Amino acid sequence: MTNTDYLNTDYQSDTIKDITPEPLGARRIVVLISGSGSNLQALIDAQSHDRLGGGEIVAVISNVADAYGLKRAHEAGIEAVALPHREYDSRDAYDGALIKVIERHEPDLIVLAGFMRILTPRFVQRFLGRLLNIHPSLLPDYQGLNTHARALADGVERHGCSVHFVTEELDGGPVVLQAELQVSADDTVETLQEKVRSREHLLYPIAVQWFLEGRLQFSAEGAKMDGHLLPEHGMRLSHADAAEELDEELDEEP
Ligand code: GRF
Repeated sequence: MTNTDYLNTDYQSDTIKDITPEPLGARRIVVLISGSGSNLQALIDAQSHDRLGGGEIVAVISNVADAYGLKRAHEAGIEAVALPHREYDSRDAYDGALIKVIERHEPDLIVLAGFMRILTPRFVQRFLGRLLNIHPSLLPDYQGLNTHARALADGVERHGCSVHFVTEELDGGPVVLQAELQVSADDTVETLQEKVRSREHLLYPIAVQWFLEGRLQFSAEGAKMDGHLLPEHGMRLSHADAAEELDEELDEEP
């Protein structure tokens, strides 16, 4: 009998051929927030409509104790953890505590959804490849804060948002997905923010779904989708396509 003969028996049952693999357990997601948590809400809604790649948000952690997003988590029956950074002496001490809380939840993916903290290299290295962020600009343009005001001041015609893997470079990790929008002459910081936010809510659940389905991967060369290296700006949803998805009125192209 060779090592594989047992695979060739005619047994009707109780053979290795009859073993059906157990369905994979839900993929575990931890979301980090600091504020309103509207992106968190988009992820919660996607999960409740079974559109999150079999993912389950198992905990939401905020560095701001009264962040509204914690209330959203609580209302959705998700463990909501306040971990105020002010209670720690250093960035390193805080990130150490954050790593511990996150690891307790054994996540497959950590989603930064408006988490307004610069992360230490130790933190990033610990979760490299399973850390996603959303940023309100078409990266690599406008890394950092106040993206809408800076875009308006520059008089750009196109703005948008990006989902990217997090690396040690602030807002500099490989981009996965972007949604573009056409800036109108009468846009203000507030209107731009609103348009960008609605695109963020569209993109983030899709990126999370792809990641949890194993389609999206981080590699040393950049982000990969279905095994193919993505271009520097990732996959891009045009203004027209996003507007259609969002039922927005389309302005005439200038
Ligand atoms: C979003 O605009 C996101 O791009 C940025 O922070 C904001 C978070 O908003 N990183 P919310 O808390 O999800 O409403």
